[in-house]
Amino acid sequence: MAISDEDIQKVREASDLVAIVGERTVVRQRGRDFWCCCPFHNEKTPSCKIDPSTQLWHCFGCGEGGDVFGFIMKLEDLSFPDAVRYLAERAQIDIQETGRKGMPSSQKARLKDICKATDEFYHSQLMRGKSADAGKARSYLSSRGLGGSVPKKWHLGFAPGRQSLVRHLGSLGFKPQEMIAANVAVQRDGGRLNDRFYNRVMFPINNPQGECIAFGGRVIGEGEPKYLNSQETPLFHKSNVLYGLDKAKSAMVSSGTAIIVEGYTDVIALHESGICNAVATLGTALTIQHVRLISRHASKRIVYLFDGDAAGQRAADRALAFIDQEMTPEAGKSRIELCAVTLPDNLDPADFVAQRGADELAQLVADAKPLIAYGIERRLAAHDLGSAEGRTRALSDALSVLAPIKSSMLAKDYAVQLAGRLMMREQDVLDALAAIQPPKSYEQRDEPSPVSQQQGQPPMPISEGEKSRRRFERRLLGLLAQNPLCALAHADSLAQTQWHSSVHAQLAECVLGVLEKNPAAKPADIVSAAAATNPRAAGILTSSQEDDAQNVEQKAAFLIDELEIGDMEASLASMNAQLKSGQIADELERDIIFQAAVELQKTIAARRAAHQPHIA
Ligand code: UTP
Ligand code: MN
Repeated sequence: MAISDEDIQKVREASDLVAIVGERTVVRQRGRDFWCCCPFHNEKTPSCKIDPSTQLWHCFGCGEGGDVFGFIMKLEDLSFPDAVRYLAERAQIDIQETGRKGMPSSQKARLKDICKATDEFYHSQLMRGKSADAGKARSYLSSRGLGGSVPKKWHLGFAPGRQSLVRHLGSLGFKPQEMIAANVAVQRDGGRLNDRFYNRVMFPINNPQGECIAFGGRVIGEGEPKYLNSQETPLFHKSNVLYGLDKAKSAMVSSGTAIIVEGYTDVIALHESGICNAVATLGTALTIQHVRLISRHASKRIVYLFDGDAAGQRAADRALAFIDQEMTPEAGKSRIELCAVTLPDNLDPADFVAQRGADELAQLVADAKPLIAYGIERRLAAHDLGSAEGRTRALSDALSVLAPIKSSMLAKDYAVQLAGRLMMREQDVLDALAAIQPPKSYEQRDEPSPVSQQQGQPPMPISEGEKSRRRFERRLLGLLAQNPLCALAHADSLAQTQWHSSVHAQLAECVLGVLEKNPAAKPADIVSAAAATNPRAAGILTSSQEDDAQNVEQKAAFLIDELEIGDMEASLASMNAQLKSGQIADELERDIIFQAAVELQKTIAARRAAHQPHIA
């Protein structure tokens, strides 16, 4: 199914970027451009620029950028076609999606139909299946306290396997390709079409509206893998789905709190015991999308319950790293509070409510500490605080939790508390906090030089000269993407430049490719096409800071000149290296290279002299 380019353009034209950003955050005009606090990282002063003329945005803080579709894709976590549909709906534009005959126009609707039919099939197998295996599935669930009204309420199922589902879906008119796309069937190398789930109890995974979009299947008793989940499909992206959210959302709204657990069975056990605001991630770490999704329902707190076992503790450490990067508490006044607690005695939430009851669990949730405090406690607990050495190690371990927010008041507050706990001088702890390395910033995240990548060595530090070369390349690419006429005029130089980064080379090719197909392409068309080929593209192509449109041609010429001279200098260096190495045995050849190097040196000197830096 595809949306036509014409429709995409129609939607683009009807979707003013300034207005759309303005619907979500405060946007202020400064000169020709508009600025806002970046919705993709935490900040208090606006560093996200929206250019109304090119309809492009770029955040100078985190380096993200793109067109209006890219903005919606990131913000709402949608695919490109879904972002187009989303904005079409906002602008009340009817888009014609081309589909195969006799089928619903949207592929997703069809996949949902398959999931629904599969869910019905599995459920009826569990409730009414006559085979011995179906009987075993029923008694297995009952033995785990998941009998009675539970299978009906949670629409649990049984997957017999042996192509029973494939045959059933076939009889309903679904095609093999569709079953594969929904990931309820698999086919290896032209072999037979097979059910994906064999002899498992099935947990349907719903979207927040309660429609089934995927499945988790547990072996009955012991076996590997214990759980088999649907893979990613156009309907199902693990990183933004939470098991049980459809049933938990109203309790989240009324209590203001969400509880996150690790397992399907934990969610069910908690709901059945009356704690109805619990959801689970699908065997993955918590993501910022999960947090956003929850914040739409719970307004105050998210409490993450970690299992007491080793896997749960690993999850706790992963969550610490995530929160450190994504949420510096000072950034938002109304930000949802993230708290965490580890369940005692190796228990998981289901065991805990079974053994100690819902009231005790509710108390545990109420007492959960803010994530930073939880993280610091975890780090302290790993050391012997009775010895001076242990306390010193504990200090650096605990301070690393604060690294990403080291300059905030909150971090200083925690540091002072740490000093008390570790019997150290406050000033010493504050100095130690000031001295720790903050996590890498955007500028430091540049890719390593291609040579060190090829050899699998740790990335070489990039020299200042190389950094400035890459900055020039980025600036030129951004300038040309935002001024397509200028890019057309310089197409030849663009094609000949020796790009110092494979991403830049790819972007140059993409800019030229778009303009070759459509010389009237707009900046947003170019950025959008480039973003589809490389995830870093939109950030780079929108990063140009050139604000006065009149000198575009002059600036482009300067940058191209700079890059050409740089390329010549690189060839000169390589010639000189050859001559020095003594590897060229032939005297005539050596002489030719020598002459060429001398000539090149002269040319470079002349070009440099004529090269007027209009921009520094
Ligand atoms: P657990 O092993 O804690 O699951 O894994 P659980 O729900 O407590 O399992 P049982 O049935 O009570 O023994 C937590 C979650 O991790 C994912 C599943 O989403 C599971 O609910 N997981 C676990 C997998 O995806 N695959 C596995 O093999 C195991
Ligand atoms: Mn468990």
